[in-house]
Amino acid sequence: MENIVALCKRRGFLFQSSEIYGGLNGFWDYGPLGVLLKRNVKDAWWNDMVMSHNELVIPGGAPGTYEMTGLDCTIIMHPQIWKCSGHYDLFHDFMVDCRETKKRYRYDHILGRWVLAASPATRVFVTTLETENTQSALEEAALKFFGLRKKDLDKLQWEGEIMSLPDVMRVASDTAKILAPDAKTPGTLTEPREFNLMFKTTLGALGTEEDTAFLRPETAQGIFANFKNVCDSTRLRVPFGIAQVGKSFRNEITPRNFTFRSREFEQMEIEFFCHPSQSAQWYAYWRDRRFAWYIKMGLAGERLQLREHGATELSHYSCGTADIEYQFPFLPPGEFGELEGIAHRGDFDLRSHMEGKLVKQGNELVLEKLPNGQPKHRGSGKDLTYYDDLTKERFTPHVIEPSAGADRATLAFLCEAYQVDTAPDEKGQPQERVYLKLHPRLAPIKAAVFPLVKKDGMPEIATEIYGELKQQFSVFYDDKSAVGRRYRRQDEIGTPFCITVDGQTVQDGTVTIRDRDTLEQERVHRNDLVQELTQRLG
Ligand code: GAP
Repeated sequence: MENIVALCKRRGFLFQSSEIYGGLNGFWDYGPLGVLLKRNVKDAWWNDMVMSHNELVIPGGAPGTYEMTGLDCTIIMHPQIWKCSGHYDLFHDFMVDCRETKKRYRYDHILGRWVLAASPATRVFVTTLETENTQSALEEAALKFFGLRKKDLDKLQWEGEIMSLPDVMRVASDTAKILAPDAKTPGTLTEPREFNLMFKTTLGALGTEEDTAFLRPETAQGIFANFKNVCDSTRLRVPFGIAQVGKSFRNEITPRNFTFRSREFEQMEIEFFCHPSQSAQWYAYWRDRRFAWYIKMGLAGERLQLREHGATELSHYSCGTADIEYQFPFLPPGEFGELEGIAHRGDFDLRSHMEGKLVKQGNELVLEKLPNGQPKHRGSGKDLTYYDDLTKERFTPHVIEPSAGADRATLAFLCEAYQVDTAPDEKGQPQERVYLKLHPRLAPIKAAVFPLVKKDGMPEIATEIYGELKQQFSVFYDDKSAVGRRYRRQDEIGTPFCITVDGQTVQDGTVTIRDRDTLEQERVHRNDLVQELTQRLG
């Protein structure tokens, strides 16, 4: 992972936000190449899900035809939206503070184990944040605490298995013996406290409590709030999907793992509205369709998995959820991180925005009420049901929600693409080569154009070719240093093709196209380059 992070910084994919002031935890800037890569991820998603969708044909695996459209909603919306959606009351994480180090941790992210040292005979619960090798991190913490050296490892007596902090803190009498990560004395952790993940902001100049608004923690609610507008302003018929790509904000307690858990990030969400009788089939369709998309874009292999949630894991509104997960290199072996969730949300969202905040009572969703019988959070009172004029049926559509993170997908594509092999240099000597095997649709630069040397008419032809290709593709011109080094620089940023103008070009107009992955070079006439690249880029 360190190599990938270093490459991202060195070649301008990702920078820490506000780096010159020491950075800001949980915020990341995309550099000159990163902005192209992430835009390509979002464009590929938008194009494959929305623009190229043919509503006249039943796609493979779908129960019927459907339509797709899009929205671009505001980040700040009416605060009542978050009260009815459940985010205001339920979108919490538990956190603990260390009184000694002043560090704050997500309660469920701390892992530890009871350990006893023969001399002095003290028993303590040493902790760490989850790492690739949790046990060795715990050993290090225990040795430090007991003032022992590495060779004294056998003086430590471990008790029981590695446990999470919530499991240990449930036993109240033991909390004084918990040693916080990085602390010197045990018993410095506070009780867990709830922490709402929504960022607050103030509207207008007065700044009273009534002027409080929130930065959206998901793009989904803008779609639900506009469901009626879309139905009234278009001729879309259920089933149809509304897609949105945009920023979301969550005041994550422990942002970490590069961009994986950020406080400002982008989502690519679809809310798919269908008849309740067909929702199970549509759920299966979207689950499989989204999984296949990641494979098509290059995340093949055992590092990608589809995981169906068990009944206890389901959200308060969901009758079925699956996660598409990727084995990021920063996770412990065998662990996967979520790329996208596909949720069957039933009629929870539309009903919430009609009636008010709902809660589950038995198998029913009912309006949550205050002791005085008034709704806890009032809905809009607007009719968000759908009338099917063919069947003459009025119903509240069910929603299937494929919700992806653009930053997590970009990070997964980067991690998967990072490759090291051996390739001969100009003198034929084998050299280690780092390259990004990005899908050509995702690669920031599609082709680089080089004159072999800076003389004999080659730069003039190369600049002409560059100008022609630039009309259609993201291309890069380079005439600095030896051609072998120029190839390496392009390999390292994932450029799939390098076009070189050489002595023969001056004679017959042909150039070489070098393939990043196979290193094969073919001669192509310069007049055929646009067609050749279009074909090769897919
Ligand atoms: N509307 C449903 C929803 O927002 P979620 O599982 O909370 O569901 C969906 O988020 C996706 O958004 C996640 O699968 C992940 O890719 C991305 N995401 C969520 N929190 C994130 C964070 N703090 N940083 C980066 N991406 C995040």
